[in-house]
Amino acid sequence: MVEMTRRDTLGLVAGAAASAHVTPLTAQSGLASLGAVGAQVGVLFGSAFDREIFQDAPYRTLIARECRIGTTENSLKFGWLRPRGPTADFAIADEIVAYAERNRIALRGTALVWNDWNPTWINRHSPSELGALLDRHIDETVTRYRGRLHSWDVVNEPFFPPHRRAGGFRKGPWFDALGKDHIFRAFRRAAKADPTVKLTLNEGFCEQEDELGKSVRPLLLRLIDEMQHAGVPLHAVGFQAHLKPQLPFDDAAFQAYLNEVARRGVEIYITELDVDDSGLPDDVAERDRRVAQRHHDFLKAVLAVPQVKAVIAWHLSDKYSWYRTVDWFRQEVRRHGGDPMRSARTHIYDDQLVRKPAWTAVESALAGRRA
Ligand code: G3I
Repeated sequence: MVEMTRRDTLGLVAGAAASAHVTPLTAQSGLASLGAVGAQVGVLFGSAFDREIFQDAPYRTLIARECRIGTTENSLKFGWLRPRGPTADFAIADEIVAYAERNRIALRGTALVWNDWNPTWINRHSPSELGALLDRHIDETVTRYRGRLHSWDVVNEPFFPPHRRAGGFRKGPWFDALGKDHIFRAFRRAAKADPTVKLTLNEGFCEQEDELGKSVRPLLLRLIDEMQHAGVPLHAVGFQAHLKPQLPFDDAAFQAYLNEVARRGVEIYITELDVDDSGLPDDVAERDRRVAQRHHDFLKAVLAVPQVKAVIAWHLSDKYSWYRTVDWFRQEVRRHGGDPMRSARTHIYDDQLVRKPAWTAVESALAGRRA
């Protein structure tokens, strides 16, 4: 792997721009926007965001400047809309949707169905009641935002082979109650509730060249084929891309896989891009450089696939890195010989909303795509 210094990156930017006849906006205006650079080459660039934008004005401004597309991090999830029972509270989700509309950010909702992170109250319901609950959730939620969203992650993370469920599916209330049919049912229901929105199947791990990633990829392809054979409406497939440099990866192999997916006639979105730095050195400059390198190399590979239409970071700033909220992260840093008390630096802006090398790396990869 070629190591990349910042000078190299800037050289890349100039070189890429020349070859792609795209001049990075930094060269034009100084106040570049990754959303604008992406738009020049047919890519919607954006980020996850959520209720923090109502307290954090500088971050709200940054999101509005950088993003042409966005994803609600949590507020449109089942457990956030219905934390204590079947009755939904849409108040915060409504605010986020309105903010995105005011700022002309195409908004993605995630996720109508996820077999993880569900509120405990649904465990009190029988399988048939869960089916009715799922139908009601989709009818109410998708209808409420009909015509206002870019796309829905209708089902998130359908597979997780270590759960040892038939077909490698992820265990959880919806699968355990309704089997894999819950996927077809959810997509059909969502299409009826809003025929204008793009319906997306979103998956994790596929970017990894480890046993997990290589086991999920064929399962996902088979599910896509089965859905299309059954006439289930599927417009796009999302790949989360929570990249882990400490695990095996082969960007050329993943690019080939994306071409396989693209042959099914669906759009492809990179939906939750960030780089887990738990396996990287403590030294901040070196860690930032490696995070930048991984962003760049991965995006160069996937942006060579024309059907990749959107690249969405899972937040823009380290200050909202989900890696800072999960228990396992510090253990992972320690396991790799790092200082467990250090802060994750997994994103393209730092805590003070200053660009990191990863910002330039993303710009270089976007600008280097031939429109
Ligand atoms: O803000 C509350 C805090 O007040 C409370 O004390 C604390 C104790 O439970 O919870 C805090 O909320 C947590 C929230 O993250 C903000 O940190 C929720 O419990 C926690 O469930 C939530 O986790 C989210 C996770 O999905 C589960 O929904 C993360 O924000 C979010 O980044 C993460 O995103 C997922 C994608 O949806 C799917 N792909 C993987 C990705 C990362 O796990």
